[in-house]
Order: sequence, then C-alpha cells, then structure tokens
Amino acid sequence: MKKDLLCLLDLETEDFESLFEKALTLKKRHKRGIFDKNLAGKTLGLIFDKKSTRTRVAFETAMMQLGGNSIYMSTQETQISRNEPAKDTARVLSRYIDCLSMRTFDHSLVQEFAAHSTIPVINALTDFYHPCQVLSDIMTVIEKKGGYKDRKIVWVGDGNNVAASWINAAAVLDLDLVVACPEKHAVSADIIEKASAFGGRRAQFTDDPVSAVKDADVVYTDVWASMGQEGTLEEKLADFDGFQVNAELLSKARDDVMVMHCLPAHRGEEIAEEILEARNAVIWDQADNKRHMDKAILEALIQETGN
Ligand code: CP
Ligand code: NVA
Repeated sequence: MKKDLLCLLDLETEDFESLFEKALTLKKRHKRGIFDKNLAGKTLGLIFDKKSTRTRVAFETAMMQLGGNSIYMSTQETQISRNEPAKDTARVLSRYIDCLSMRTFDHSLVQEFAAHSTIPVINALTDFYHPCQVLSDIMTVIEKKGGYKDRKIVWVGDGNNVAASWINAAAVLDLDLVVACPEKHAVSADIIEKASAFGGRRAQFTDDPVSAVKDADVVYTDVWASMGQEGTLEEKLADFDGFQVNAELLSKARDDVMVMHCLPAHRGEEIAEEILEARNAVIWDQADNKRHMDKAILEALIQETGN
C-alpha cells in the first residue's frame, strides 16, 4: 500500500527513528563517496506553486544521487493552472512517475492529490506544514546535540507552517518544545488541537521570548511573513518587537545554544546578521541535511509502495 508524507502526525515514533537512522547513514556513505542507486529507473515529479531554492534542489539532487531522475513543474506551466481537476492530474501523473513532491498554498490540494494518486505524495511545504524541513532539522539536532530527547528546543517568531510541523513532531516524539509567538501571530488553535489530540508531550506556548529561551539548547526562528503574506510584513513588524534572535535574547539561553533557521533568512528582522554568521549557528549544515533526509524519505516511500 502506498504511503504519503503530508503531515508529521502521519508518522509513528518508529517511522521518525528509521528516517533519522537512514538519513544519517546515507549522509555518511555520501561523504565516503558511496552512492547507492536504490531508486534507479524511478522518477520523482515536483509540482511547485511557490518559490523554492533548498527544497527543490535538495529533492532533485537526492533523487539523482539515488540513481533516479526528477521532473520539476511550476504549477503555472501545467494544466492545473487551466483548471484541470487535481483528481485527474493525480491519476495521470500516477501512470508516469513514482513519487510526487508538492509545494502549494492550500494544504487541502496536497491532500486531494494524495487521495487520488497511487504513488506517494510528499508535502514540500504548504501554508499549514513543512514536514520534511522539520525531519531534517531534528536530524541536525541529533547530529549536533547527540539526540533530541530532553533537549530544550525553543521556537521564536511567527506561528507559521514550520512552527506547526515542530508542534506535530513534539506530539509524536515527546519533545521539550516551547513556542514563543506574539499573541496576534500565534499558531492556529486548530493545528494545536490536532497535535494535542495525538498525545505525547504537548508543546508549551508563550508570548514571552525572554522566558522561553531560558536554558534553551536550540533556538529556532523563521521569517515573520511567509510566502504569500509578504504584503502584511510592514503592519506586523511592531508586533514582533523583542522577538528578534540576537545576542541579547540568546544571552538568556545556555552558553552552547544552537541557533537554527530553515532559510531564507531576513537579516535584521527575525535574526540579527551577527547571529546568522556566528559559529554556534548551524544553519548551513541544517540546509545540507535536507538533501540527506529527502533521500531517506524518497527511499522509504518509493520502496514501500513497491510500484
Ligand atoms: N527551507 C526551505 O524550504 O527553503 P526553500 O524555500 O528555498 O525551499
Ligand atoms: N515559513 C516560510 C518557510 C520557508 C521555507 C514560508 O512558508 O515562506
């Protein structure tokens, strides 16, 4: 039976653990120049309705290094932009390709594709969630902090799609996660409700970034206006007063605090330039891990589906 990856609540703890192990192994083998061609002859399709640098290139290079190939389609260049129904596109693409990675505004579009495809569908970011990002982020925490259990991870900033995926991961993996957002830009109640219904340790929520980062092992931030919301930034800026990840805020965290950002970053807004460039920011390694995690996801989903 085919499996999709639309939301981290779709995964069990064992699925997370197996993806971390696989991605870390693939990374080690890659560094030794060993490329397993486990997906030779397979094709990944990418349908992207939003811009991307990392996710697109990470998926495409991952597929290539696994011996497969990929086809990138901007939604605008497909018949979807001329209103061909998602269910028709999904059924036709299922005949041509072996896996579909999608970046859309509307999360329900990815769900609709998954419902009508016989191939695995991967959420490469929607307005609600960014699951592959957080999988590779936790992989980075494991690498740099020796594990994720009982490491205090603090989200500082907008209650967006990446924050939502962290909350989902916290629910499944029992993470020590604190989410600090301005009240007006908190994570939606619906997303929190879905994650907390799942059980596990519920993330803690606050609008006070200073108390949140106390004793933090990891401080994570992301843009204050996500793709599609750029026009709202000016009016939002004042709400984020005190939420910039800078030296002053980090002085309240542990001395060895690790700063993470999914990128792209807006220097001088959610993160100060000197912090982004500092030694204890692992942001570039974090970006690199997307490719290794994508390999693990592609292998797991395509091989399990067994088309
Ligand atoms: N972090 C991330 O998803 O980056 P892109 O938008 O460049 O893909
Ligand atoms: N929250 C950001 C993440 C980009 C990778 C956005 O959706 O634009």
